Amino acid sequence: MKIESDNQHTLLDYDKSLTLIGQGRSAYVFRIKQTGKAMKVFFPEYMYIAEEEAEIYKVVQEITYYPTLYDAGSNYLVIDYIEGTTLFDCLTNGIPISQEVVRDIDIALQLAKQEGLNPSDVHLRNILITSDLQVKIIDVARFRQTKDCNQWLDLKKAFYCYYEKRYFPKKIPEFMLNGIAMLYKKNLLK
Ligand SMILES: Nc1ncnc2c1ncn2[C@@H]1O[C@H](COP(=O)(O)OP(=O)(O)O)[C@@H](O)[C@H]1O
Ligand SMILES: [Mg+2]
Repeated sequence: MKIESDNQHTLLDYDKSLTLIGQGRSAYVFRIKQTGKAMKVFFPEYMYIAEEEAEIYKVVQEITYYPTLYDAGSNYLVIDYIEGTTLFDCLTNGIPISQEVVRDIDIALQLAKQEGLNPSDVHLRNILITSDLQVKIIDVARFRQTKDCNQWLDLKKAFYCYYEKRYFPKKIPEFMLNGIAMLYKKNLLK
């Protein structure tokens, strides 16, 4: 993978065996063509996260709500490719989110806690729902941080207090969700 050395991380080139499937704040994620695997390649300044995230995936390998880890290197991870939709895309596209999904996410996080982790940075873009309604949680790099993160608790509250109400819109504009995410990033919401 070749990226521009500006702070935009413009993607210049990548191997023909890969398909770009996502981008986060710290990495590009590709599907390895003709396989059920995904490769997360970290930007140079976030390279150190690769090892931390791999260690955490190893802790949750027995839990079905997390992808399998196949390989890890100094700046990348290979995990299951999850054929699904992030909760973020469910909300912006008006795909309904059920109580069962919310309950499964809770169970997934509870199970990680039982392994001694402190699930953090659990937000709409790090939760995927497959077409058969399975929940998968990705981007576990911050599961060992000591500071508590309330994002999931807040999302759950919003689900029961607002989303579930009959007249609450099931399709929410992207700019509103990004606005809320920005408040978290700036620590204005905790
Ligand atoms: N295993 C995967 N299967 C399918 N999509 C994925 C997978 N991993 C990541 N993605 C997509 O790529 C995006 C960025 O990945 P993520 O691991 O959250 O990176 P970052 O740590 O930079 O936030 C996710 O929000 C999701 O849309
Ligand atoms: Mg992410």
